[in-house]
Amino acid sequence: MVKVNEDYLKLRGSYLFSEIAKRVNAYSANNPDKKIIRLGIGDVTLPIASSITDALHAAVDEMAVKETFKGYAPDLGYEFLRKAISENDYKARGCQIEADEVFVSDGAKSDSGNIQEIFGKDNKVAVCDPVYPVYVDTNVMAGRSGDFDEATGQWKNLIYMPCDENNGFVAELPKEIPDIIYLCFPNNPTGAAITKDKLQEWVDFANKNGSVIIYDAAYEAYISEEGIPHSIYECEGARTCAIEIHSFSKNAGFTGVRLGYTVIPKDLVRDGVALRDLWARRHGTKYNGAPYIIQKAGEAVYSVEGQKQIKEQIAYYMNNASYILNGLKEAGFTVYGGVNAPYIWLKTPNNMDSWSFFDKLLNTANVVGTPGVGFGAHGEGYFRLTAFGDADATKEAVDRIKNM
Ligand code: MLT
Repeated sequence: MVKVNEDYLKLRGSYLFSEIAKRVNAYSANNPDKKIIRLGIGDVTLPIASSITDALHAAVDEMAVKETFKGYAPDLGYEFLRKAISENDYKARGCQIEADEVFVSDGAKSDSGNIQEIFGKDNKVAVCDPVYPVYVDTNVMAGRSGDFDEATGQWKNLIYMPCDENNGFVAELPKEIPDIIYLCFPNNPTGAAITKDKLQEWVDFANKNGSVIIYDAAYEAYISEEGIPHSIYECEGARTCAIEIHSFSKNAGFTGVRLGYTVIPKDLVRDGVALRDLWARRHGTKYNGAPYIIQKAGEAVYSVEGQKQIKEQIAYYMNNASYILNGLKEAGFTVYGGVNAPYIWLKTPNNMDSWSFFDKLLNTANVVGTPGVGFGAHGEGYFRLTAFGDADATKEAVDRIKNM
């Protein structure tokens, strides 16, 4: 008799964004005349920039010609893209990351979910609370979470690091020493950024204790202020304690075409093993590489025209962020984020719980957002809006919320 993986049975309900989609679809089916504005999932709305789609078209044409056709991609990514990443995202910022420390993949969600596979089951995992649910759910699936405690809304074996108004939504170093620490800055969902000095404290803490930081930098392109690191490798000593994950989704609109990468420096050794080699082994066995045509599109992101065009797109989304931030402030909401990140994190009015506010917003303003509690117990009483919407729709959504 087949047995299923019982750790999967521990998972709570459905994935947050699937649950939201289910509720919105039900509302929409019952209210077909209502124009719903979706500021829930952080999905981009602008088309991919023309210099990037030109590269994509050219790569498709190469696939149609015997001499330039490509079969399987190298498991770890094409050299041209790994070099472009190493040069532009790292060396240009003074970080010594070599092309052979970069692993190209189909996106940051998969990498941040899969990376835990190279670690033993008994490692103690620390996550921020609230947190991007993928880090938690994949550790539940892997059997590291223990049981769910209904009273606290937390998993018994995970270390939770509360992020709230008192610490500016940047976690304090935990008292219990974790083996694996997930950090995401600029943060999803709170939109908070971490200063270089504060991140250096985390790097020192991890090196001192032999922990590994899994640093999700998916939103680094949205940093607008000085003193905020774009990469954890800007901190001294990060090569011996940090893995960094990046996405092409948020900076270049690749949510539908899929491309990301993970960096594991050769100096990152635990248990006598270079983690880079384990990840390479995992990639080699389970992955056939991101498609050539998508990697060519990724390379075009680093071209002069590509950089100019993606900066314009980021400015468009950050304009939405300012509109939401200022509009909600005017309406009397307490709001955070939206300066170095495309997310606005607001306190629900009158201590309303997050899902009640979700329902109220959907029913009265026909606007969809994300309930803070979906990101963890400390997200209760908060709500997230994304700046990735269409500009006119975003303005209309804010006006509707103001008139609620
Ligand atoms: C989010 O809305 O939190 C993100 O879009 C999810 C993701 O990037 O996977």
